[in-house]
Amino acid sequence: METFIQEMKRYLGFTEEDAALLRQIGPRMEKYLPELAERFYSQIRQHPNAFRVFGGGDAQIARLKLTLQGWAKGLFGGGYDQPYSEERYQVGYRHVRAGVEQKYVISAMGIVRAFFSECLLLEFPASDVRLRYARAVSKILDLDLNLMCESYMHASMQNLRALNEQLERANRDLAEASRSKDEFLAQISHELRTPLNSILGFTKLVLDGLTKTPEEERELLRDVFSSAQHLLGLVNDILDIGRIEAGRMALHVDDVDPRHVLDSTVPLVTIPAAEKDLELRDETHNTELPLVRADEVRFRQVLLNLLSNAVKFTPPAAADQPPGRVAVRARILHKPDAPAAHSGNGFLRIEVVDTGIGIPEEKREEVFEKFVQAPAGRRYGGSGLGLAISRRLVELMGGAIGLENGEDGRGTLVWFTLPLASKEAAKLPPASREKTSTRAPA
Ligand code: HEM
Repeated sequence: METFIQEMKRYLGFTEEDAALLRQIGPRMEKYLPELAERFYSQIRQHPNAFRVFGGGDAQIARLKLTLQGWAKGLFGGGYDQPYSEERYQVGYRHVRAGVEQKYVISAMGIVRAFFSECLLLEFPASDVRLRYARAVSKILDLDLNLMCESYMHASMQNLRALNEQLERANRDLAEASRSKDEFLAQISHELRTPLNSILGFTKLVLDGLTKTPEEERELLRDVFSSAQHLLGLVNDILDIGRIEAGRMALHVDDVDPRHVLDSTVPLVTIPAAEKDLELRDETHNTELPLVRADEVRFRQVLLNLLSNAVKFTPPAAADQPPGRVAVRARILHKPDAPAAHSGNGFLRIEVVDTGIGIPEEKREEVFEKFVQAPAGRRYGGSGLGLAISRRLVELMGGAIGLENGEDGRGTLVWFTLPLASKEAAKLPPASREKTSTRAPA
């Protein structure tokens, strides 16, 4: 197969005779090369964008002047073969890497061309002789330009290939996201239909007068009420994730007392925990907690979500087993190098730990994605959006959230952090602060 240089030479009509002519005039051209380098760089340095590529200043230009002379000498060196082609290609490639646009290389070649015409005029006053040399010089400059531009083509191809791969990856991610969305829709429709069916069925029973006693009627209405509450929870989750996705989740961040939030939230899961004979413990009960920067409503929502999950995913104890347990803990993290947004005051870390079914290590990141529920979680119902919403809310409040193994490798520990209010930093004795890694306020 013809190489690129062979093809170009054929296309340009570059013959052995041209090669011989160039070799002939080489020695006579050498004395002009320092002048070529001077003119070349004084002209291209005028370019408004030149400062971008000539960051090395005069020293760089002095070096480049020498390399340009070397390159120009090569024009009359006589090889014009594969090694010549590779070397000239590499010169082009260095320009691609240095960020010189192809159009500037093309127009700079015009400077070289004009310069050599002048040299030839001086060296060969007789126009017929000069014309033969001028044609050979013109061909070799065209050849060099093509070789340099070839490297731009390759670089563009590489970029395109990389872009294509990125696109393909994005496409795959989109397809995956759309698949999860479809699954989510199927799941959520089912989840919405279940309480709706109860509401419709039970109210119809009552309306049709099919209940025998007022007590039975009240029982049904209680079921209607809890189904409606459940339905409202699902709808709220869907609305929340929609708002977060659209960037329209407005938070009202203020100094918030976590004690107040814990005391008003933990009791909300007392009944469901008691129904499963779970031990529910607020281990922060006797500790003084510092104020945090948070949206109180959303803080409560996150805590309630974690507590409800813990209760939901902790099975009632079997006969010979100790009862399941759900506990809430809190501790202060000092983070001296926290970003300014966190005012460097540290964080309050709240943990909800259970002895439940746990989440396999490889699923821990995934469960924070929207529309994803750990496989074992599906049979427990719910929107599957709780953790995704919690993560976004905690992050919007300047904190982080994560999952770890529960105690003794059993169950799950979910933690989240919230930045301390600025007035707390001064109050805390250094000894009460715990150092953490610089990455996540875990
Ligand atoms: C016909 C046009 C040009 C020729 C023949 C030429 C020639 C050369 C040569 C021989 C080198 C050394 C390459 C090496 O070390 O392998 C070089 C490097 C360089 N040239 Fe050019 N050049 C041209 C156009 C331009 C233009 C228009 C600019 C800027 C606007 C430019 C900026 C540079 C820079 C920044 C380097 C250093 C690259 C590096 O450090 O790797 N050149 N040039």
